[in-house]
Amino acid sequence: MNVLVIGSGGREHALCRTLARNSAGPRPRIFCAPGNAGICEDAVCVHIGATDVLALADFAERERIDLTIPGGESSLAAGLADEFARRRLNVAGPTRSAARLESSKAFAKEFMLRHRIPTARYRVADSSAEALGILRGGEFGGSDAPVVVKADGLAAGKGVVVAKDRAEAERAVVEMMEGGRVGNEAAGRVVIEEALAGREASLLLWTDGRDYRLMPPARDHKRVGEGDAGPNTGGMGAITSPDVLDEETLARCVREIVEPTLEGARADGLDFRGVLFVGLMLTGEGPRVLEYNVRFGDPETQAILVRLRSDLYSIFDAVARGRLGEVDVEWSDDASACVVLAARGYPEQPETGARIEGLEEAAGVEGVQIFHAGTARAEDGSVVTAGGRVLGVTATGATLSDALARCYDSASRVRWDGLHYRRDIGKFS
Ligand code: AMP
Ligand code: GLY
Repeated sequence: MNVLVIGSGGREHALCRTLARNSAGPRPRIFCAPGNAGICEDAVCVHIGATDVLALADFAERERIDLTIPGGESSLAAGLADEFARRRLNVAGPTRSAARLESSKAFAKEFMLRHRIPTARYRVADSSAEALGILRGGEFGGSDAPVVVKADGLAAGKGVVVAKDRAEAERAVVEMMEGGRVGNEAAGRVVIEEALAGREASLLLWTDGRDYRLMPPARDHKRVGEGDAGPNTGGMGAITSPDVLDEETLARCVREIVEPTLEGARADGLDFRGVLFVGLMLTGEGPRVLEYNVRFGDPETQAILVRLRSDLYSIFDAVARGRLGEVDVEWSDDASACVVLAARGYPEQPETGARIEGLEEAAGVEGVQIFHAGTARAEDGSVVTAGGRVLGVTATGATLSDALARCYDSASRVRWDGLHYRRDIGKFS
């Protein structure tokens, strides 16, 4: 079997490593485009960018790829699944129109409204004047009330501002729609929504459009600093443990959110097959959807996949072929954690090119797997930093504290100039 994973982060390294562990049969031949220094140890890295859809499809035809797994959203929003389907190539990801659940926040909100899926109250604005008018109209509270401003399009984590009051929200509107805070395309339209309070959780699942299989609920830490200080990042760490979502809340999320979402997608003619990631706020009135992503999360994937007992290739193959109903997905019943080791300057301007030491020793800690994100191999063969999030130190453990202790033991053995990470992963205020 030949499998192609698309992307270059820790998520994709976890996907490649887990595919390599195939429990159901012979190890598939794994390709990754474009990959990173760590991925190249588990897969054949191919120099094609994640959004170069035509080159990826040509490659898949030429190398007789049996299954393609897109990691991030950019290739899906660029129409990867549509082009692969056109060429009858097997792909486990949603079409461009189904990917709008992530690539357009206004589209996602309208979808939720239409299908009665609980989410924050919202309005859509197509100009800054309209957005400021909505804010000043007071329907989201007075000038002291918190309110959320979201760029409509993909903005690599920079498109959401949870403003503490109206003045901050107004500044966010102007920055997004006039000041080039996010790319132009992202900012032509904004969603303004009610600020929700509660605990967050990430619920991920595979679906083939009809059946679905849940993954262990996860939580991530988005802020760069301990105690949730500083700017938002792609994610500084993630955990899975039984207390992320109790059974009753999970059942409610399935009934009120997961099933209506999948039914809604079918009713709207969206071909959704792949991974659906539901970002949840657990409010006093029940779970509410904060956002949909149409792919695995990073670093949630790392924490989730180390608990997978079943064969990942078979799951994704069933997703792509519409046969998920025939597949059982089993998980270990322990807990897991992923601690992200980041470069100085992340998330604003990460420094690159620092030589990473201690990797082998760190990987030797019991129960630990180290996934590479922003790494590259220097000419002399050493591994150097090449991005903001550099490594994801990931471990399972009988309890969450055991998993975390293993991660931190391992992380303490890694060194480079400018290395930083949060010491409070798994602790939530
Ligand atoms: P999103 O990309 O939509 O998930 O937003 C990123 C983060 O912003 C979420 O993980 C939440 O922490 C926060 N957020 C988004 N929407 C809301 C909301 N309506 N109320 C409070 N916080 C929110
Ligand atoms: N960790 C959040 C995301 O991947 O979107």
